[in-house]
Amino acid sequence: MTPNQLRWDPLPMPERPTDFIEGMTTMACNASCAVHLYAANRSMETRFLYDADAELLLVPQAGRLELATEMGRLQLEPQEIAVIPRGVRFQVRLLDAQARGYVCENFGAALKLPDLGVIGSNGLANPRDFCTPVAAYEDREGDFELVARFQGNLWSARIGHSPLDVVAWHGNHAPYKYDLRRFNTIGSISYDHPDPSIFLVLQSVSDTPGVDTIDFVVFPPRILVAQNTFRPPWYHRNVASEFMGLIHGAYDAKAEGFVPGGASLHNCMSAHGPDADTFAKASAADTSRPDYLTETMAFMFESCDVFRPTTFALETAQLQEDYFRCWQNLGKHFDPARP
Ligand SMILES: [Fe+2]
Repeated sequence: MTPNQLRWDPLPMPERPTDFIEGMTTMACNASCAVHLYAANRSMETRFLYDADAELLLVPQAGRLELATEMGRLQLEPQEIAVIPRGVRFQVRLLDAQARGYVCENFGAALKLPDLGVIGSNGLANPRDFCTPVAAYEDREGDFELVARFQGNLWSARIGHSPLDVVAWHGNHAPYKYDLRRFNTIGSISYDHPDPSIFLVLQSVSDTPGVDTIDFVVFPPRILVAQNTFRPPWYHRNVASEFMGLIHGAYDAKAEGFVPGGASLHNCMSAHGPDADTFAKASAADTSRPDYLTETMAFMFESCDVFRPTTFALETAQLQEDYFRCWQNLGKHFDPARP
């Protein structure tokens, strides 16, 4: 096992009653963000949460959620994402018996749509597909708990009324959601691979132009038509650190072992790419015909800062100790005598 190439099976669903706060487990963090997984089987009934450290990007993998926020309610299902701004109070209610997913806690600049450069005015995630709630207040008194995430810890206070009592609002510091199936995927229609930045949904920019503290990237269903090209993602080492998850289906670079709800981490300059089975299949593929990639939705939290896995992440039974073996059967194919 190497500390820079790690992969995990999904968190098991909880056996005892567990809400979103109790069901959250931190997997990795750095100066820019923290990555958590959640697995829950009950709503936050009498407590509310806000994060003073960061905005929260929620990526559900199983189970529908209702996010009841100060600005109104958002219903969210797997393959949709939501962002709760820093400081906004909210409650996670389950619309199904169980829920599981990923959370990116973004300490940096608020996530935004990227500049499209030569792509032009439209493409990737389009502004028209982002949804913001209308005001929906509740006038409810009772014995409630307000939980604050502050300086990396959770703090609790009693509150005698629901904080979701905002009757109207205006402004732009508001929660929003986006359906990843609306992503307008762009790719090569001739040969070779464009830079994977074409999969960028949202970015948190740093003070250095061109360097993002977090990129949220998605790999949706798409049609691969590049000819005379090895079509799966290429083998690479890069300066960014990549925490990846799978929301739905299968990922085109991994024939097995990376399952919905699972996760992987490839830190700065650690080599990674398709496993040996995927390499063999793609190398023999007929690239005169298109490949229809369906039933897939993978994503990545990519950061300019190295992810430090938590003790939990390194010691949990979900860690796949043999992950590195997926590349061990890659053979040498270079033959200088071959034209
Ligand atoms: Fe990568």
